Amino acid sequence: MAKRPLLVGNWKMHGDGGDLPTVIAIGEAARRHPAVDVALCLPATLIERAGRVCLGLAIGGQDCHAEPNGAHTGDISAAMLREAGASLVLLGHSERRHDHHENDVLIAAKLRAARAAGLDVMLCVGETAEDHAAGRSAEVVRQQLTRSLAGMGGQGIAIAYEPVWAIGGDRTPDPAEVAAMAGLIRDTVSGVRIVYGGSVTPDNGAALFVDGGVDGFLVGRQSLDAEAFIAILKSIDLATRQISSPS
Ligand code: PGA
Repeated sequence: MAKRPLLVGNWKMHGDGGDLPTVIAIGEAARRHPAVDVALCLPATLIERAGRVCLGLAIGGQDCHAEPNGAHTGDISAAMLREAGASLVLLGHSERRHDHHENDVLIAAKLRAARAAGLDVMLCVGETAEDHAAGRSAEVVRQQLTRSLAGMGGQGIAIAYEPVWAIGGDRTPDPAEVAAMAGLIRDTVSGVRIVYGGSVTPDNGAALFVDGGVDGFLVGRQSLDAEAFIAILKSIDLATRQISSPS
C-alpha cells in the first residue's frame, strides 16, 4: 500500500520572528492539503513561537544531543525540543556529518535518544560526489543506514536520501537513480517512508516524486519561500491523487 506522502522543510540556520508569516502561510496550505504530512524543521529559537501560531503542520528540530542533559554547552536535548513543541528531528544531515564530524555511531546514539523522548526522526543518508563518481553510492548508503539505525526498527523513523553533491546547488540525480536508491533503502529497512532531498524545486518535484518512487521530499532553500514550498506541496498532492486513481 502506498504510504502517506511527507514533505519536510529544513530551514537550516535561517529565519527569525519576522519569518513567522511564512510558517503561517505554509501551515494554512498544509491544512488545504490534508493528504500530505507537512513539517518544518526550524532553528530551535523559532520552534515554540511557530507552534503557537501554526497548527496545520508539524514542527521539528534540526539536531539533538545524545544525552538527555548535562554539561554540553550550546547543545539541545531531544526532550528540550519536545518540550518546545517539536514532534520530529532531523538527524545525520550531511552538513552535521561534515561540519561537526558526526559519524554513524554518534547518530545512532542521537536516534535512540530522540525516539526515547518521543520524537519522530528523519534520518538523512547520502553519498559524497567522490563516492558517487567512484560508483560507491549504494555501499555508502547501506552502511550509513545499518550503522545509524543499529538494530532500531523503522517505527517513528523516515529516511531522507540526500546525495551530498545535490544539496545546495542546482544538480539532482536522475529520477531513475533516486528510484534505485529508494529500492535499496526499502530492502535495507522495511516499513519506513523514504524522501528525497537535494535541490528540489517546484519544477523538478513532480518528476522526482513520481519517477523517483519516493514518499516525499526534504527541501532546503525552497522551504524558505512559502510560494515555492506550497507549489511543491501541491504537486505532491496532485501526483498522489493521479497515482491512486489513474484515468
Ligand atoms: P536544498 O537543501 O534543497 O537547498 O538543496 C536540502 C537539504 O539540505 O536538506
